[in-house]
Amino acid sequence: MTTTEEPATTTAAVPAARPQPREGVRAFPPGFVWGTATAAYQVEGAAEEDGRTPSIWDTFSRTPGKVLGGDTGDVADDHYHRFREDVALMQRLGLRAYRFSVAWPRITPQVSADALGPVNPAGLEFYSTLVDELLAAGIEPAVTLYHWDLPQALEDAGGWTNRATAERFAEYAGIVAGALGDRVKTFITLNEPWCSAYLGYASGVHAPGRTDQAAALTAVHHLNLAHGLGAAAVRAAAPGARVALTLNLAWVRTDRGTDADHDAVRRVDGLQNRVFLDPVLRGSYPADVLADTASVTDWSFVREGDLELVHQPLDVLGVNYYSPTVVRHWDGAAPRAEADGHGASTHSPWPACEDVEFPELPGHKTAMGWSVDARGMRELLLRMHAEHPGLELLVTENGAAYPDVLVDGHVDDADRIRYLRDHLGAVLDAVEAGAPVRGYFLWSFLDNFEWGYGFSKRFGIVHVDYDTQVRTPKDSAWWYSGVIGANALPTGD
Ligand code: FCB
Repeated sequence: MTTTEEPATTTAAVPAARPQPREGVRAFPPGFVWGTATAAYQVEGAAEEDGRTPSIWDTFSRTPGKVLGGDTGDVADDHYHRFREDVALMQRLGLRAYRFSVAWPRITPQVSADALGPVNPAGLEFYSTLVDELLAAGIEPAVTLYHWDLPQALEDAGGWTNRATAERFAEYAGIVAGALGDRVKTFITLNEPWCSAYLGYASGVHAPGRTDQAAALTAVHHLNLAHGLGAAAVRAAAPGARVALTLNLAWVRTDRGTDADHDAVRRVDGLQNRVFLDPVLRGSYPADVLADTASVTDWSFVREGDLELVHQPLDVLGVNYYSPTVVRHWDGAAPRAEADGHGASTHSPWPACEDVEFPELPGHKTAMGWSVDARGMRELLLRMHAEHPGLELLVTENGAAYPDVLVDGHVDDADRIRYLRDHLGAVLDAVEAGAPVRGYFLWSFLDNFEWGYGFSKRFGIVHVDYDTQVRTPKDSAWWYSGVIGANALPTGD
């Protein structure tokens, strides 16, 4: 626990002007990119408009018992209709960049495993207009091509367990990059393939809700393949653009010191970090992960030549970090602790880890029940810098959910400000130690549909009233605005 209990840095009332950090500031490098992030299914709504067909999240959220409160993304933040108002608010807050994702089912609604099908002009038009609106407001777009909303027709043909999904993804990626690449300079192929594979296919708490560890590892490989094929397709269609991949890397430790505990660290590090990093950045799968999971699969879905396809040049690595991961060897004596923060399921997301447990950590937690420890941010950035020198890094997500309340048009979210201040401090620590971190995207701009938790968890720096769709910047929004304006972090208070 590094989070301190110091008072927040803003006053309780919404300030009339952006608060400027007082003395005691730590400067960020010139040109540091400041943004916020969202994802299509979490904010857009308009689920059945302009030709969009269902994604796996439409199916999943409409299945009783899958999402808390029976919430769906049918309307969400209605960003599909309100994006102009949202971009204007971003501009008012001084945001410089916006990471959003493209909904594949809007772009090629008739896709099948065999063919991409026709491109839907209305789908491309929406994102093209959004990009224009952002650029006119002086906000740099960063586009995620896949943030979990797989067309349902592809899932019906096996989803990420079917190699064809990776091939269709690359074709779709080329189309989006061709349409937006004259204005968009950063394309992120995939967001957190760890979640798509393990939460979607092993624990089943995310769409498509399958519980089959072999399927999850097959999905891991096809997602890696999708990244590689997609990266090549983006480069071909938009030669000037930078290609990125966003991973939710884990800072894995143990709070006990036996050899078996350290082995649990190695295994979870393999499944969460190295099974994605190694093929993408080195062109090989880690031998220990293949051995660890041999009881689940023989990895025969990896075809000759695949690793060369996965191992494409990477311009930027996107790092998402929220919370630390602590593991122990489980000897079977007491009930297994499963506080890994990834939702309740009788099926583990971790293939071949029956003897690993995730103890509950003491200390401050967010509304997700996620432990707060900003050291993980610094450690992950420094690890990437040490292991892959020269690779540009971008924090593509970081933020926190708290039980915010709107009182008289005002949300006092001092706890979120503390979280952000500590994590931005950790980013600066890494920068000052030489890590090439180019920017930071706060999750999230708006409160939104938090997957299996529905609308019950609020991550936004802007409050959304889901009955009226009224947006209200929280205190953290004004605080972040001040940090951006000063390109520096206040340290004085
Ligand atoms: C990440 C997801 C993002 C959001 C945050 C809280 O895993 O990429 O969509 O749900 O968690």
